[in-house]
Amino acid sequence: MSPVVVVGSFNVDHVWRCQALPAPGATLSGQYATGPGGKGFNQAVAAARAGAATSFVCALGDDAGGALARGLASADGIELLADASTEPTGTAGIYVDAHGRNTIVIGAGANGALEPAFVQRQQPGIARAGVLLAQLESPADTVELALALAREAGAVTVLNPAPANAASTNALLAHADVLTPNETEFAALLARHVGERIEADDVAATDGATLHALCRKLLPRGTVVITLGSVGAFVSHADDALRGDAQPYYRIAAEPAQAIDTTGAGDAFNGALAASLAQSLRAAFGEHVRFANRYAAASTERAGAASAMPRMKPQAG
Ligand code: RIB
Repeated sequence: MSPVVVVGSFNVDHVWRCQALPAPGATLSGQYATGPGGKGFNQAVAAARAGAATSFVCALGDDAGGALARGLASADGIELLADASTEPTGTAGIYVDAHGRNTIVIGAGANGALEPAFVQRQQPGIARAGVLLAQLESPADTVELALALAREAGAVTVLNPAPANAASTNALLAHADVLTPNETEFAALLARHVGERIEADDVAATDGATLHALCRKLLPRGTVVITLGSVGAFVSHADDALRGDAQPYYRIAAEPAQAIDTTGAGDAFNGALAASLAQSLRAAFGEHVRFANRYAAASTERAGAASAMPRMKPQAG
């Protein structure tokens, strides 16, 4: 089994559970909780709890949030490689409604100051990774360098292009072996990088051949996994790189779950996918996606982001 390196954000999440998401001008009552989050940290915790030796490269402030990250990483056996920032540790304000849906506002803080030079200094650790996983809550040039260093060393690079409004470039995408947008991120990337328009709400119902053709335009040489929430996932490979699968594109059904909070479900999927890939690169790619799907579904049955990640390992194979 080879290690997973996650490069990304840590946030202190401030969460209000309320009946409905607030409309502009509304004042609502809700139940408050706080806990660890940030797409990067959530994914690192998921990878670790799915059985991978995990390192997390991030930037933290010299404050209570930074101390929280250090303590929690240590509790989960995650090697924390943190750039000390003069900015405060990242924060997120999250509303969760009665259906488990959320709205999030982030204050990037230290996450926005994760420098390429710091990632460059982590090259020896990155070179030992089997899988490098990154998202877009960190500066795009830093993420691009991390992906480039990992690929140069022979690791599989997974880019979760979240959130949808984050900056991305063609060069950044080109460093991803596997790209994992949700339907909103997929629509945003298609508009930005390919000039194709599709409504996010229409992605799940679009026929497979059309989705595959769009995925091929977006990432001609890599694999695209579109996560579709309660509908499952769509996988599209380059014709000459099926990663052990029999078909270039296919759908995987969602796993049933009694969802109470979908915050971090995408992060659960990505962390579990990276852990599964790192544990057995020989298995068919679809098996890794099925495991990630099960893992993400289980994460929605508990409240919170990083703390909702289940301890669940893929079958050895
Ligand atoms: O993906 C969920 C995460 O997005 C939250 O934990 C929040 O911190 C934001 O980064």
